[in-house]
Amino acid sequence: MSSQIEIQRIEKSKIASVDFNNLPFGSVYSDHMLECNFKNGAWQTPVIKPFSPISLDPSSKIFHYGQSIFEGMKAYKDAENNTLLFRPLDNWKRLNKSAERLMIPQIPEEIFMEGLKALLKVDNDWIPTNEGSSLYIRPFMFATGSGFHASPANEYKFIIATAPSGAYFAGKVKVLIEEKYARAANGGVGYAKAGGNYAAQFYPTQLAMDKGYNQVIWTDDNTHQFIEEAGAMNIFIRINDTLITSPTSDRILDGITRKSILQIAEDAGIQTEVRKISVGEVVEAAKNGNLKEMFGAGTAAVISPIAGFGYQENDYELPVLENSFAAQLKKKITDIQTNKVADPYGWRIFV
Ligand code: PLP
Ligand code: COI
Repeated sequence: MSSQIEIQRIEKSKIASVDFNNLPFGSVYSDHMLECNFKNGAWQTPVIKPFSPISLDPSSKIFHYGQSIFEGMKAYKDAENNTLLFRPLDNWKRLNKSAERLMIPQIPEEIFMEGLKALLKVDNDWIPTNEGSSLYIRPFMFATGSGFHASPANEYKFIIATAPSGAYFAGKVKVLIEEKYARAANGGVGYAKAGGNYAAQFYPTQLAMDKGYNQVIWTDDNTHQFIEEAGAMNIFIRINDTLITSPTSDRILDGITRKSILQIAEDAGIQTEVRKISVGEVVEAAKNGNLKEMFGAGTAAVISPIAGFGYQENDYELPVLENSFAAQLKKKITDIQTNKVADPYGWRIFV
C-alpha cells in the first residue's frame, strides 16, 4: 500500500517558526496532510501533500446537509524517539460506524492506517517530545459531491491533518449540568462523531460559559435526570471509593479513553460500575461529602479533573485529593501511551 501513496513534499518546512513549549490545543498545523478522494464509486490514490486550503464547489453537500464526520487520535514519542499510536484501529472502526450512520462510504483500513503511518513518517519532526504534549491527529471525511437535492453525495474527501498540541483545557474545569438543551436523542446520531453534534452544542455551551463554566454535562434528552457525557469527553464520577460511568448508548460516544480507563481501573483493584447515574444522586453525594471526584476522559482531554459543577443555580465544589483516582489513572494511561511501562493490553502500536 505505501508504494501507492503519492508524496508531494513541502518546499520549505515552517517548523522553525513553531514554539513547541507553547502549543495551544489544535491551532498549529504540521507541514503535510493526507488527502484521498472518493469518486466513481471508489477511493482514489491517497496523496500526502503540503497542508493547504482546499477548493470546493458551493453546491457541495457538506455545506447544505452536513455530511461530515471526524476522529481524534494522538501520536506520542517514547524516550528512544519511537513514534507510538494508541488503539488506532478503534478510531478507524468508529469512523466507519459514523460513516455508516451519515451515509458516507466506508474508508478501507489500508488507506486509514498506512496513510496515517506514512504521514507520521513524513512529519516525524512535528511530534512533540515534551511532557504533556503530543501530535493531535484529526482524520475526517465529508461530502464534496454537489447538488441541492437532499440526498447523499456521490463524492467525498478523506483527510488526515495533524497539530502538535498541549493540554485541551487551560486551568480548572467547571461544568454545568444541563437541564434544558440536549446533545443527542434516542435513535439519533449522538454515538457518531458527526460535525453537527458539536455545532449543536455551541449555543448551550456558550450560555454555560457566560455563567463561568467551561463545559456542559449533558443529561438524557427525555427526563434530564441522568448524566450522559460532556461536550468533548466521557464522564467518570467517584462516590466514596467506587468509580462510576454511564453506559454507552446511541446517544453517547463510545470513548476509547473511557473503555481503557475502565479496564485499567479494574485491573488496579478500583471498584467500577457502569450504570445510569442520576443527577439527584450526584447532588446528594456532593452535599453529604461522598462525592470525591469527577473527571472527564477523552483523547484531547486525556483525564481532566473537574473542580466543581453547577446545577439549578447552585454550585458544588469537589474536594482536592492527594493521590486521586484521576491522577493515578492519568499516569497509568499516559505511561502506556508513551512506552514508559509495559502494555499488557496490546494497545500501543509502533509506527
Ligand atoms: N465524548 C465526546 C462527545 C467526544 O467528542 C470525545 C472525544 O473524542 C469523547 C467522548 C472521548 O472519546 P475518545 O476517548 O475516544 O477520544
Ligand atoms: C477528541 O478528544 O479527540 C475529540 O475529538 C474532542 C474534540 C471535540 C476536541
